Amino acid sequence: MIPYGKHHIDKDDIQAVIDILRGGVLTQGPAVEAFEKAVAEYVGVKYAVAVSSGTAALHLAALAAGVSPRTSVVTSPITFVASANAARYCGADVLFADIDPETINMSPDALRELLLRNSNIKAIIPVHFAGLPCDMSAIKKLADDARALVIEDAAHALGATYPNGRRVGCCENSSMTIFSFHPVKAIAAGEGGMITTNDEVTYRKLIRSRSHGINKLDDALQFETEAFSDGEQNPWYYEMQDLGFHYRITDIQCGLALSQFSKLDSFISRRRDLVKNYDLAFAEMKNCCPAQITMRDQSGHHLYVLRINFKQVALTRGQLMRRLKESGIGSQVHYIPVPSHPYYRQLGFKSENYPNAQKYYQEALTIPLFYDLTEEQQRRVISTIKDLLD
Ligand SMILES: Cc1ncc(COP(=O)(O)O)c(C=O)c1O
Repeated sequence: MIPYGKHHIDKDDIQAVIDILRGGVLTQGPAVEAFEKAVAEYVGVKYAVAVSSGTAALHLAALAAGVSPRTSVVTSPITFVASANAARYCGADVLFADIDPETINMSPDALRELLLRNSNIKAIIPVHFAGLPCDMSAIKKLADDARALVIEDAAHALGATYPNGRRVGCCENSSMTIFSFHPVKAIAAGEGGMITTNDEVTYRKLIRSRSHGINKLDDALQFETEAFSDGEQNPWYYEMQDLGFHYRITDIQCGLALSQFSKLDSFISRRRDLVKNYDLAFAEMKNCCPAQITMRDQSGHHLYVLRINFKQVALTRGQLMRRLKESGIGSQVHYIPVPSHPYYRQLGFKSENYPNAQKYYQEALTIPLFYDLTEEQQRRVISTIKDLLD
């Protein structure tokens, strides 16, 4: 079976995990810090905080941005539910700005309209869908006018670059950026996430809140009489200063992530080559085309999505996916629009309010894209799809 996505593990990755297991520190240790430092240097940002998942990263980032009850957060309807749920964890309302049909990213025009009609928006969470960077300068400008902070959801976009060549994660147009290291993402940690920021106060908050809200680094202690005796800090003493969480990542995960990270550029370059083959193969088809054809050299290429006009072909999407599966080819749909899920419908959301997202959803199909996909396998994917659609 050729899956739609898959991690690549080699002997260096296995050795990296063995080394951690032999090294004596299993939870937060030197590998966590080394991984944070490596990612921060690579994306060109001051601070990076590794956490247990991309979802945890979104939650902590939303809290650090001040998202709370009676505030709202705007995100894209075409994303994984975690991007919106982060706001709900903080008790805030969610608003969805419809997508741009060319990029499948949040449309700055839809965002502008939403910001005109709503107040008290604390954060905007654009999602770099499938690794294609959003129009961050437009989004940042709108956010500034609305006095909202920007948190980039770059779960799909480690290794992607903006039009000016800087890497996603550098936070030049945002307060924070989050990444995910779930196995189908650019690099695998088993599970894992990260938040990057250039703001020291935010960084300190994030470091505390990933570990119960207990003081970290050189945070000032608040209860001096209990903290100090004989002119020195009491050796046992620590303070829980905010309500935090246990969102720590382990050294085992970061050992793997660091080893994977050293291969990121080759992972992306292989994905880019595969994308070029797909783009060529599907360019001339009548009822089927690549969903995102812009910024091919800048995308992280997390997913390859086709748009298929199912009204004009002989198969429904369900039939096509089942026939592909019978031929040993995995496929998926990214994503069911978040407002269409039962939880969000109960909150009053209606999918017809996001026409671009709805149209995209009716046509989308993700086909296999991963480092180990061979040219022969890719040819089989292409010819099977062409045969089934013709
Ligand atoms: C766009 C997006 N944001 C956030 C997440 C959450 O990441 P994680 O699975 O690491 O919690 C995902 C994961 O699939 C995602 O695709």
